[in-house]
Amino acid sequence: MGQELAGKVAIVTGGASGIGRATVELFAREGARVVVADVSADEGEALAGGLGDAVAFKRTDVSDADEVQALVDFAVHRFGGLHVMCNNAGISSSFRRFLRDDLRDYDRVMAVNLFGVIIGTQRAGRHMAEHGGGSIINTSSIGGLTGGGPPISYRTSKAAIAQFSRMVATDVAEYGIRVNCIAPGHIATGITNYDLGPTIEVDQPLQRRGTTQDVAEAVLFLASDRSAQITGITVPVDGGTVAGRPVRRMTAAPAGSENAGSA
Ligand SMILES: NC(=O)c1ccc[n+]([C@@H]2O[C@H](COP(=O)([O-])OP(=O)(O)OC[C@H]3O[C@@H](n4cnc5c(N)ncnc54)[C@H](O)[C@@H]3O)[C@@H](O)[C@H]2O)c1
Repeated sequence: MGQELAGKVAIVTGGASGIGRATVELFAREGARVVVADVSADEGEALAGGLGDAVAFKRTDVSDADEVQALVDFAVHRFGGLHVMCNNAGISSSFRRFLRDDLRDYDRVMAVNLFGVIIGTQRAGRHMAEHGGGSIINTSSIGGLTGGGPPISYRTSKAAIAQFSRMVATDVAEYGIRVNCIAPGHIATGITNYDLGPTIEVDQPLQRRGTTQDVAEAVLFLASDRSAQITGITVPVDGGTVAGRPVRRMTAAPAGSENAGSA
């Protein structure tokens, strides 16, 4: 166990479960004081209660600007500052084909996934700008970096998060604030409540199953001073999925090709 985040205060939205929970646990192990922000109060309070005095829960709906401001104020009041903001909360959208989709979940998906990231970045950034800077990590998705089909509202929101983060990174750099994104892919959590196996087999070059811990490690790197020279990027944590589909070893190679004669 290192102390990569010793002396730092962090907020993790959507921190009660899945990737957010793994991030909270890793940050706490690395010496940070952490505020878990989530709409799920039972899970959030249980998580914070089990991690001791360095972790607190604040019920927050990230789509509500006043609640996000109250969250930032809570972190500053409870732990004396705010150095790392992980805008991780997100929800999925309909998998219906586009022309048959009534788009009834569109507003909520944009409010939570996109506005939640925008307002979290702004309110944390305002504090950081006046207190020497900080690191903001926004959660996009491989679904926002690649083409393809549904869930269309979700993937559109995730693409916008990556673009938003690039743009804001340039806008707030003068205050010592870094803004980066992670783009997880095919991680078993509450949001991926379907069998990931067939998709991983076809789409993911590294066939190992990615974990919430894998994603948390990338978030830790972007949160810590090890990434002090990095801003405005999006890091896929996806077993190579964005790079392209796996190239399988050929068993019957054409004569004269590189693989001819090999197993
Ligand atoms: N699991 C994956 O494969 C994957 C892939 C790409 C991106 N992501 C993204 O990772 C992030 C975390 O998702 P996860 O996979 O851990 O799923 P999850 O469902 O386990 O976690 C999402 C958390 O966000 C919380 N939340 C939902 N709406 C909220 C709101 N309005 N305000 C505050 N909290 C809210 C939920 O209560 C939950 O605790 C999401 O942004 C998701 O889109 C996940």
